[in-house]
Amino acid sequence: MDLRRVARSVDVRLRRRLADLSPAEARRGRADRERLRARWPWFDRFEAEAPAIEDRFLADHAWYVRHVGHPVHAASLELATLLWFLCDHLDPERVIDLGSGFTSYVLRRWADARGGREVWSVDDSAEWLDKTRGYLFDRGLDDAHTLTWDELRAAEPPAFDLVLHDMGMMDVRERTLPEAVGLARPGGLVVLDDVHKPAYRAAALRWLDEKGYEHWSLKPYTRDRLTRYAELVLA
Ligand SMILES: C[S@@+](CC[C@H](N)C(=O)[O-])C[C@H]1O[C@@H](n2cnc3c(N)ncnc32)[C@H](O)[C@@H]1O
Repeated sequence: MDLRRVARSVDVRLRRRLADLSPAEARRGRADRERLRARWPWFDRFEAEAPAIEDRFLADHAWYVRHVGHPVHAASLELATLLWFLCDHLDPERVIDLGSGFTSYVLRRWADARGGREVWSVDDSAEWLDKTRGYLFDRGLDDAHTLTWDELRAAEPPAFDLVLHDMGMMDVRERTLPEAVGLARPGGLVVLDDVHKPAYRAAALRWLDEKGYEHWSLKPYTRDRLTRYAELVLA
């Protein structure tokens, strides 16, 4: 491997670890855990319910990151667990994941188990969306409502009870944030993944605060071994 690539990779990992040590983010995580439990008392049940959800997806996730999506791109098992937990407690009628892949699988598994629920899966990459369709097919799940981002925008989509924003590279993520949040109905929830990235977090939280959205750090619930974590937004 060339030395510059090694140096870049060490630098990225070092910066990620340093960002993970941020005392301000640790404080925000602790405070928001209490705020979340005050707002939705069922968050108290996360520690008791999460292990069974994780167990359900452990083998599938390991297979997925080995054969389909790279672990850096695929949603973490922690995020998948949180999504299932949110679905169980919110019982959403219509859910959407922006940034298709393992999350499309998890949400469709939940919808299948619950019945009568709609899942939309969207990607800015048509190629990646096709991969997701193939994976869903292989797992015996339907690929209804799988669209590219451009198709979704042209379709005048309905309002969603739960939105995951995990689409594209970080510049795309930031640029499409207002539209992603706008897909949720008033009172719906939006999960923003990858707010461990300081530049994205700063821009996203600034925009949410300017617009007056209430939001909570999900670091205590979703931090994974790559130090990634998510934010919850009330639309
Ligand atoms: C963070 S990923 C989305 C992950 C997705 N929610 C999941 O659970 O697998 C963001 C974008 O990267 C692309 N992508 C997903 N997996 C990828 C992979 N293994 N390699 C390259 N690009 C990927 C997709 O276009 C997606 O919109």
